[in-house]
Amino acid sequence: MLTNLWYVAEWSKTVKDKPVKAKLLGQNFVLYRDKTGKVHCLSDVCIHRGGSLSNGWTTERNCVACPYHGWEFDAEGKVQFIPSRGEGAPIPERARIDAYPTEERYGMIWVFLGDLPESERYPIPEFPEYDDKANWRPVSLEFTWKGTVDRVVENGIDIAHTAFVHPGFGYREMADKNKILEVERGDYWGRSSNVLYPPQLQGNFGLLKFFRKDKAATHVTPSFYLPGHCVRLQIKVNSWMEMIIFDANTPVDENTTRSFAVQVRNFFKSPIFDKGSIKRTSKVFQEDADIVEALSPNYLPETLEHEVSVEQDKFMSAWRMIRRKHIEMGWKIDTRAMKAFEGEKVFTIPSPARRTNPHLKWALETVPLVEGNSASAAEVGTQGGIPQVESA
Ligand code: FES
Ligand SMILES: [Fe+2]
Repeated sequence: MLTNLWYVAEWSKTVKDKPVKAKLLGQNFVLYRDKTGKVHCLSDVCIHRGGSLSNGWTTERNCVACPYHGWEFDAEGKVQFIPSRGEGAPIPERARIDAYPTEERYGMIWVFLGDLPESERYPIPEFPEYDDKANWRPVSLEFTWKGTVDRVVENGIDIAHTAFVHPGFGYREMADKNKILEVERGDYWGRSSNVLYPPQLQGNFGLLKFFRKDKAATHVTPSFYLPGHCVRLQIKVNSWMEMIIFDANTPVDENTTRSFAVQVRNFFKSPIFDKGSIKRTSKVFQEDADIVEALSPNYLPETLEHEVSVEQDKFMSAWRMIRRKHIEMGWKIDTRAMKAFEGEKVFTIPSPARRTNPHLKWALETVPLVEGNSASAAEVGTQGGIPQVESA
């Protein structure tokens, strides 16, 4: 699990006037909406006696109150009021918790979990079709996997599995016809363009058989983004019909992933087709989960030594390289080191204030990180292409 990235914590519509608990990267956070409508995200651990703020309430001071002794924390995580001391009493210097930047986009609450200053953060991935309601009809759904986020993302960008895992999307006997036409990558994203030969669309889209023949060449463009661990899958059904599935994959903990998905379509935009869209997309998630939840090991292997890759895996390799580069940059949480303290000590994800004000004093220690190696990070970053696949 990587720090220093934007992740989706919750749907916007879920956070109203009460604090809401969100678990990400194995840590608990509280989300709350102030009187102006702005959402805030704080660590969910009260530094008085460990109360869970998400069980508290929001206050007139635009704070969230701890349910144990009523201490009030503002949007910056600073204690503003200690009821037992009374109004105007001085507040201890260390009476603060980590507060994280938030944004609301695509009906989702994004939180930046790390201490990088704004100028160094990778942006939230663009999804312009979501706001273009005149041309695109969106539906939202979510899915929770018993699987690690790295495996989930890898599955989402893998084209070769579609012929085997998704009967609605491919034929086994066409597996060698499906082709990766191009792979591009940046520092924190990758995109590949592919041609596939799926069957006619089924269900409410049954009419489509008049618009698309069985096994017609279909262009599919999967992209991944490290921020949000997002996958965007663009499917060009024919010259005028397109759909996009955009999902943000949140690591709840090491082996649980919550996918926040929005599917948009530029055809059959009437709401009467929404139910069918949701049903079909959910079915695809379930087909993937049946495979991903049974993978061994659960985690993505850290080297290629114990797996065999072929050319058709090159886009997945691009994802692995980008992930590896950021592990070498020291962004990965050392969950093994934390296990020794389970139940005895609380760690917190460092927030930007820790870096901008190094003189501030804090009650909680930050999560241990796997030691990086800037030389290897640079090396992974400059390979520019795709790791070598094995020769026959
Ligand atoms: S534990 Fe939070 S106010 Fe006491
Ligand atoms: Fe799939």
